[in-house]
Amino acid sequence: MATIGFEEKERVAGEAFRRLSGTVDEFEGYGHPHASRVARLSEALAASFRLSPADRSTLVVAALLHDLGEMSMNRDYIKGAGPLSGAERLDLARHPIIGEQEAARAGAERGAQLLVRWHHEWWNGSGYPDALRGEQIPLEARILRVADAYAALTDARPFRAAGTEAEARKHLTLWAGLEFDPQVVRAFLALEGLPELRSYAREAPAQADAPSEPATTGGMQEDSTGRSPTVREGGEEVRNDE
Ligand SMILES: [Fe+2]
Repeated sequence: MATIGFEEKERVAGEAFRRLSGTVDEFEGYGHPHASRVARLSEALAASFRLSPADRSTLVVAALLHDLGEMSMNRDYIKGAGPLSGAERLDLARHPIIGEQEAARAGAERGAQLLVRWHHEWWNGSGYPDALRGEQIPLEARILRVADAYAALTDARPFRAAGTEAEARKHLTLWAGLEFDPQVVRAFLALEGLPELRSYAREAPAQADAPSEPATTGGMQEDSTGRSPTVREGGEEVRNDE
């Protein structure tokens, strides 16, 4: 009786994760593929850091599934164009934990599940859900944060136009040491020639301001994949650097 080899199993699983990532993009209403782009950018960074083939493959699976939790939560506000209320922001902050559980249900290995859990952790410790800091955050999750942010910033969302490549690069530089691991940002800025680096701003010139600075409010920050450049709290703009 014929048995399926390890490589064949990997290939079949990889295809299933790719299909699932397309379903998540569709749910989000993205005009362009997001998860597969994050996966390609993450893979390029994994090569820069000379990660082992096993770690690269774990990272790619996590990149494909990183926002699976959002689809599972299926909240109307996720696709909306307006700013999130405090309660919505808190609710949305559960998506990495729900994503971890959903990744397990989808058959992703434990390492990939944990990277999904930690894809919104910040280098300076103010991310979520576990407020890990610096090298407490696995390198693969730090890579995922930068790749996810760049892909989001250079694509349009209902609440803002796509930023240019230069704007997104500047954003990464500004937030290195805060949201992003500076070493990962340095490696990212050295990448060249990848089609996934191209901004969609060329298709529809950005009319909004440059990709914005994340804001902090009520103990829960919006990061680079969030929708609001500034969040008003008591009538005042609240920013990270205040
Ligand atoms: Fe996310």
